[in-house]
Amino acid sequence: MPDTHPITPPDAQTQITALKNQVRHMQSLASLGELTGTATHEFNNVLMTVINYAKLGLRNQDAESRDKALTRILAASERAAKITNTILAQARNRTDAKEPTDLVALINDTMILLQREMQKYRISVDTELAAGLPLVPVSGNQIQRLLLNLMTNARQAMGEGGSLLIRLAPVFDASGQTVSVELTVRDSGTGIPADVLPRIFDPFFSTKSGPDESGKGGTGLGLAACKEIVDEHDGKIRVESSVGRGTAFIIRLPIQSQQQAAA
Ligand SMILES: Nc1ncnc2c1ncn2[C@@H]1O[C@H](COP(=O)(O)OP(=O)(O)O)[C@@H](O)[C@H]1O
Ligand SMILES: [Mg+2]
Repeated sequence: MPDTHPITPPDAQTQITALKNQVRHMQSLASLGELTGTATHEFNNVLMTVINYAKLGLRNQDAESRDKALTRILAASERAAKITNTILAQARNRTDAKEPTDLVALINDTMILLQREMQKYRISVDTELAAGLPLVPVSGNQIQRLLLNLMTNARQAMGEGGSLLIRLAPVFDASGQTVSVELTVRDSGTGIPADVLPRIFDPFFSTKSGPDESGKGGTGLGLAACKEIVDEHDGKIRVESSVGRGTAFIIRLPIQSQQQAAA
């Protein structure tokens, strides 16, 4: 009888680590897929602007009209460049490098990507972004992904004509020092029922039947990715929700990373 070599099963911890890595990889592919879809639409929108103003400039040769056309074309092209840069940065996946980041600028850049989509669903977007905040050590890619996930969920929870608030504010300690920043994404959508709430951060948990008409949602990976991103930044994420009234995701990110603090 031939020798049998029992295959030793990988221990549970190794398996868990491998599966976690797979989930992480799927999260980034899912986000990239959604982002590419959004960006293509936005890009097309920008191209329409460029084409229309180029036509206008050719039709009206007076200096004033041409200046106006060229100014609009320049602005649209700059927007297009930002969109491309975002996609390239995400695709290169330089996810883990944390750099001192101007979160207000990051939020504004990210909103460019969802502007058209929000307009399409007649969602009014308000921002309350505190001026003069210190730079925050984050991975810009990851925080952008977090924002896109939260804003997309918000949009999907609202249907037509809701309102979305993006707020960024300092958090002070007892001595008045800014110790962290608080980012709030608040929507006027359906809210989350109490029995669903404990599960929303679980990977693959979704109440959506599949991607919507803009190709987003249904994977159940969005909030799992958000949670992971916040954890990697030594931050905290919590949710306040009220059925029929809306939902807010509130994130705190420390200004000084734990590594820095330990140094
Ligand atoms: N802003 C929100 N309003 C209402 N429900 C939400 C909101 N964000 C998330 N959810 C709920 O949490 C679930 C998980 O979200 P997510 O991980 O992004 O997966 P997906 O969007 O693919 O369903 C959603 O299916 C939805 O039920
Ligand atoms: Mg989602």
